[in-house]
Amino acid sequence: MSTENQDLAKLNRGVGIIIGSVIVLLAALIVLIFQTGENNSSELDFKPTAVSDEQPSIYWRPLKLSEIKDDKKFNQIFYGHELIVNTAEYLGPKGKVAQISNGLNCQNCHLDGGTKVFGNNYGSVASLYPKFRARSGSIEDLPKRINDCFERSLNGKALKKNSPEMQAIVAYITYIGSNVPKGNNGAGSGLKELPLLNRAANPATGKLIYEEKCASCHQSSGQGIKNGYGDAYVYPPLWGEHSFNDAAGLHRLTNMARFVKYNMPLGADHENPQLSDEEAWDVSAYIISQKRPHLDTPNDWPDVSKKPMDHPFGPYADGFSEQQHKFGPYTAMAKKK
Ligand code: HEC
Ligand code: HEC
Repeated sequence: MSTENQDLAKLNRGVGIIIGSVIVLLAALIVLIFQTGENNSSELDFKPTAVSDEQPSIYWRPLKLSEIKDDKKFNQIFYGHELIVNTAEYLGPKGKVAQISNGLNCQNCHLDGGTKVFGNNYGSVASLYPKFRARSGSIEDLPKRINDCFERSLNGKALKKNSPEMQAIVAYITYIGSNVPKGNNGAGSGLKELPLLNRAANPATGKLIYEEKCASCHQSSGQGIKNGYGDAYVYPPLWGEHSFNDAAGLHRLTNMARFVKYNMPLGADHENPQLSDEEAWDVSAYIISQKRPHLDTPNDWPDVSKKPMDHPFGPYADGFSEQQHKFGPYTAMAKKK
């Protein structure tokens, strides 16, 4: 081959390499564009759920107040919500409507206005009341059940059935739960079950847990902290003269332990509990062993055999002691039921 031909062959090869490279580059570019295109479209498909204002939930969620069209109805239900959230401001010791309760808010125990999943919410109230309750041995309507909490959990007086306050509370609770079919339970309503311990809950261990994980807000004294005006609590009291009385639902160990395990310290929820089961039982036993107001309830549990196993006062239909009913162990009792 002449040198001229050799040079021509080299040139050809050079051009070939360049064209080849350009083709490869173009192909890569096309693949790249195609892929980003694909990415974009899958992102778009995904967005509507990701940015919706509330994640779809398998649990009961309340109807929104903003969806109420009628002004009069809205005002009443909104007032009911206010009374649940800021009970003390309206009905506490310095209440601007009446002074009939101890300074707690309904929301202190019915978290997020009675809507938090397993935060003792009202998801099964509109659907199940009126209903038979063994505590009174009678069919209770909603005002009666609400007044139970006024007289026990708020250690106060009952509201008149026809008062604007009672009617507003009933309207609120009924509205937010009206999406649960009559006779059904709202999923995640009330309190979440907690496995029983095979030993008695221990108030002495509970005190150590309390000091470490609760006292920063509720105080070592258990008396909580009031706001600057002294008319409501920032951190509610857990025992003592301003707390719920000994006839309240939370004075039963299983209720307290279920509430605490899935809601306390503040910020905990059923998906992110912060206490072990044992810690929840023991710290609850400590709270329940403290002094609090007493309420005589001679008409409670007319059928003694229907008393819940953790009811802290006798007589009982079984042979277990009052001490064991109060703190456990419950495993043997639960089997008998
Ligand atoms: C100290 C805590 C506490 C406070 C404060 C409190 N409650 Fe309750 N409430 C409970 C507990 C615990 C239960 C469940 C008791 C049980 O099942 O034995 C309950 C149950 C109820 C129920 C029935 C729920 C159901 O699913 O059957 C209603 C309604 C209710 N409360 C309304 C109120 C209202 C209204 C207020 C304010 C006036 C209030 N509660 C304040 C602890 C409290
Ligand atoms: C960061 C502050 C904080 C900590 C820590 C905390 N709590 Fe609470 N707790 C609150 C607040 C605030 C409420 C009332 C919630 C509301 O109104 O929304 C409350 C309510 C309660 C209630 C129901 C209301 C009452 O007066 O009985 C109980 C019981 C309770 N807490 C127990 C505990 C226990 C037990 C611990 C420790 C394991 C604990 N808390 C830790 C802030 C706290």
